[in-house]
Amino acid sequence: MIDFLTTRRHKLPQLLLLAALLALLVSTCAAQTFTSCNPTQVKCPPNVGLSKSSPYVADFKSGIDNLLWSSVGSGSITQSSATGAAFTISKRFDAPTLETNGYMFFGTVEVHIRAAPGQGIVSCVVLQSDDLDEIDWEWLGGSDKVNEVQTNYFGKGNTTTYDRGGKTAVQDTQTMTHNYTISWSKELITWYIDGNAVRTLQYEDAVGGKNFPQTPVRVRVGSWAGGDPGNAEGTIGWAGGVTDFSKGPFTMLVEKVVITNANPAASYAYGDLSGSFQSINVG
Ligand SMILES: *[C@@H]1O[C@H](CO)[C@@H](O)[C@H](O)[C@H]1NC(C)=O
Ligand SMILES: *[C@@H]1O[C@H](CO)[C@@H](O)[C@H](O)[C@H]1NC(C)=O
Repeated sequence: MIDFLTTRRHKLPQLLLLAALLALLVSTCAAQTFTSCNPTQVKCPPNVGLSKSSPYVADFKSGIDNLLWSSVGSGSITQSSATGAAFTISKRFDAPTLETNGYMFFGTVEVHIRAAPGQGIVSCVVLQSDDLDEIDWEWLGGSDKVNEVQTNYFGKGNTTTYDRGGKTAVQDTQTMTHNYTISWSKELITWYIDGNAVRTLQYEDAVGGKNFPQTPVRVRVGSWAGGDPGNAEGTIGWAGGVTDFSKGPFTMLVEKVVITNANPAASYAYGDLSGSFQSINVG
């Protein structure tokens, strides 16, 4: 009995620590350096495709379709006909995130979004594949960052240099909903804001294509605290400083997401370990 109590007493802090660690491991838009199965290292099960050829119109003012989206983060996502989907961070480790259940292989992703305020709070739209190809929009919540959005991309999780990020001026990201669209083909990525192309990336310009995102992705929309005091100093610095959670809650609003898959299919299988678009078997 005494042993049991002693054990319990020692286990409780461990359990709390475990809970905190698990909270950090849930999917967020934070650049991920791990993947459950990396098809450039081993043979993985095929990705389930978004198989419709017509656009997937996710109008969050009328609801959140559970067939298309899964909630993969922590924290609250609520829905209303007035504002759409509200992603709220009210305490440490909240990272409300929606992710598509299926994958797309080139196409367009149009997001009507209002970024969350709050120092260190990051709002994000991420297209990411299982071998960590990635195309991003990121908004920082600091009051000095309201007129700016960042664009970024990664190829096969290559983070050796941080020279891929871009910054674009855009008015009042935290009070106005803008149309942020990514158009993605095997030749070119274009980022658009309200119909204007603000950045393009050619295949060859990404280290001769090696760093060009080119494998099937899921779309993830969410927010997280880059300024969590437990994060690496570099992350906190990039996010704009330590987050003061007592100033929350911090809410990001998403009205609509429109996804058009350029190669709709039931599944995508990596034919070899190259991670090249030519190796993807569309099934
Ligand atoms: C990673 O990217 C850098 C440039 O950002 C490039 O020089 C390097 O060759 C890339 N590494 C691989 C393995 O592709
Ligand atoms: C959003 O921008 C994209 C890219 O310019 C455009 O094709 C689309 O029609 C726009 N959506 C709306 C609702 O205006």
